[in-house]
Amino acid sequence: MAKILAFSGSGRKGSYNHSIVKCAAEGAIAQGAEVTVIDMSEFDMPIFNEDLEASEGMPEKAQAFKDLLMAHDGFLIASPEYNSGYSALLKNAIDWASRMQEGEKPLQAFKNKAAVIMAASPGGLGGIRGLVPLRMLLGNISMIVLPNQLAVSGVSKLVNDEGDVTDEKTVKGLHGLGKALADFLK
Ligand SMILES: Cc1cc2nc3c(=O)[nH]c(=O)nc-3n(C[C@H](O)[C@H](O)[C@H](O)COP(=O)(O)O)c2cc1C
Repeated sequence: MAKILAFSGSGRKGSYNHSIVKCAAEGAIAQGAEVTVIDMSEFDMPIFNEDLEASEGMPEKAQAFKDLLMAHDGFLIASPEYNSGYSALLKNAIDWASRMQEGEKPLQAFKNKAAVIMAASPGGLGGIRGLVPLRMLLGNISMIVLPNQLAVSGVSKLVNDEGDVTDEKTVKGLHGLGKALADFLK
């Protein structure tokens, strides 16, 4: 059974990107995949710095995040758009996880694995501009990024207080993303 890790590039309480990636995960589960949804607020890690890495090694939360990546075949990733790019939190977590440790092959957490990317924003473009560089980054670390993607605009009107996506059309689109990744991994 395909194992998928679902996470967002936001550690904000009530993150819309966490909401949409959770919804996409439901689509993958319905398609028979085993999905782990994580909340990035539980993986607080320092900004990557080679001096810090040399003196203290991989921080505990960065190691825990990397271990999860290593244990899964594909990723559902939702990133906020900050000033037209993906979030620094996401880049930082990927930078830590990209570091090769003893007994590993280069980029082992990512290489030849598949990803589906998405974004959500209260604004009108839904964060689509951040998905362009995110797709490039993931491709450059040897991931297969599926063509399916979704940028959910006006997201604050589409999610309830519990953080569930309530808009039927959006739910359908997000479930479709999860399904696409699960089908690809099969
Ligand atoms: C520094 C900063 C820059 C932002 N830049 C953009 C942007 O370029 N495009 C956009 O659609 N929203 C932008 N936003 C709004 C975010 O999309 C919004 O805060 C969103 O809710 C963050 O994602 P989250 O809910 O998953 O935490 C920006 C927000 C911040 C704090």
